[in-house]
Amino acid sequence: MSDTVNELYWDPFDVDIDAHPYGVWRQMRDAAPVYRNDRFDFYALSRFADVEAASKSPKVFSSSHGTVLEIMSERPLGGGQMIFLDPPDHTRLRNLVSRAFTPRRMSLLEDEIRTIAAGLLDAQAGQGSFDYVQDFAAILPSMVISSLLGVPSADQARVHELIDTLFHIEPGVGMINDISFTARIELYEYLHAELESRLAHPRDDMLTDLVSSEITDVDGSVRRLSAPESAEFAILLIGAGTETVARLLGFAAVVLDEHPDQRAELAADASLIPNAVEELLRYEAPSPVQGRWTTAPVELHGTTIPAESKVLLLTGSAGRDERKYPDGDRFDIHRAFDHHVSFGYGVHFCLGAALARMEGRIGLEETLTRYPSWRVDHAGARRLHTSTVRGWTNVPVTAMRH
Ligand code: HEM
Repeated sequence: MSDTVNELYWDPFDVDIDAHPYGVWRQMRDAAPVYRNDRFDFYALSRFADVEAASKSPKVFSSSHGTVLEIMSERPLGGGQMIFLDPPDHTRLRNLVSRAFTPRRMSLLEDEIRTIAAGLLDAQAGQGSFDYVQDFAAILPSMVISSLLGVPSADQARVHELIDTLFHIEPGVGMINDISFTARIELYEYLHAELESRLAHPRDDMLTDLVSSEITDVDGSVRRLSAPESAEFAILLIGAGTETVARLLGFAAVVLDEHPDQRAELAADASLIPNAVEELLRYEAPSPVQGRWTTAPVELHGTTIPAESKVLLLTGSAGRDERKYPDGDRFDIHRAFDHHVSFGYGVHFCLGAALARMEGRIGLEETLTRYPSWRVDHAGARRLHTSTVRGWTNVPVTAMRH
């Protein structure tokens, strides 16, 4: 074995590795496609084909023990969040909540997202410089989600405050801390009360859809979501759909500034933006690590992963795998590819993908019409570190008009 292989080390907690993971991920793909970390007791799959295959095999690669390394343990998590369920429980719940994610509801949001994005960017007009993440990318998704759910305007400021606090991170313990937990309880109680009130007074919003959708199970029984189940689901949407979109747009600001020619092409031709959003997701995955628990031994590349093991699927590495994407470390808005795994794959494929794509596209359209170019102040830029979400928390920019 070469020295490089002996020294090969990766875990999702190391802040320095997380800042520049692509070198080590490449080494893992080449030399240790079934990587073993004894310190934190997990395996990791880094090649596109392996991540995709494992995502398609929920029977063997289960989500029921959690999907975030620090909360995974021998005991299944319990609770009703669909992201931590396997089929058939997952299938029933997903079919039910998918009823609320109708194409109609999504298309109604197009104008709303544009109005919110334009308002946030216009508020910065004349400032010269602003923080693209704090003043824009981090606010847009929480406003969009509360609008999607149907949070009344009088309550929106408080709800946004609670969503912010939900993502409070403390050194050493990360996202599992009292401040975040207290916000979660208040948000849950608020949503529960709103859902109860929608039962009596339906409106044209997702909260109403959630408590009123019915599905007929294979055994003929008709099922609805209870108010507590709906409240849990709404919190999952907020958790899954806020931080991730903020990271996508933050990456857009940084990566496009590193590729000014491609940015100029996008500013000149907005029809290129949807593919640029896909390329951004492939190139810098906002949610690069998905945990799974093996229910049976898995034989792969000459290694046996025992049953009852933690396995991390490195979607962020899969996006750079040259076995799938020629010259994968090159950012190219014209790249032609069939799909990526940055929204996951298989049964847990991101339920909010259409919404995330719309927010990415409209966010960029509104940015580029106002500011065809900008300069990132790298000295002031800060990364956010959690073991699941990766990206920038501060991206100061000096924006340039035509
Ligand atoms: C750029 C933005 C986003 C990224 C990169 C992203 C990424 C992902 C990934 C990787 C998964 C799969 C997790 C797994 O396999 O364990 C997932 C699932 C999910 N996402 Fe997203 N997401 C984004 C935006 C959103 C939005 C806007 C929403 C909702 C409003 C959302 C809701 C969900 C839900 C509910 C699931 C669980 C689906 C299931 O278990 O069946 N996501 N997302």
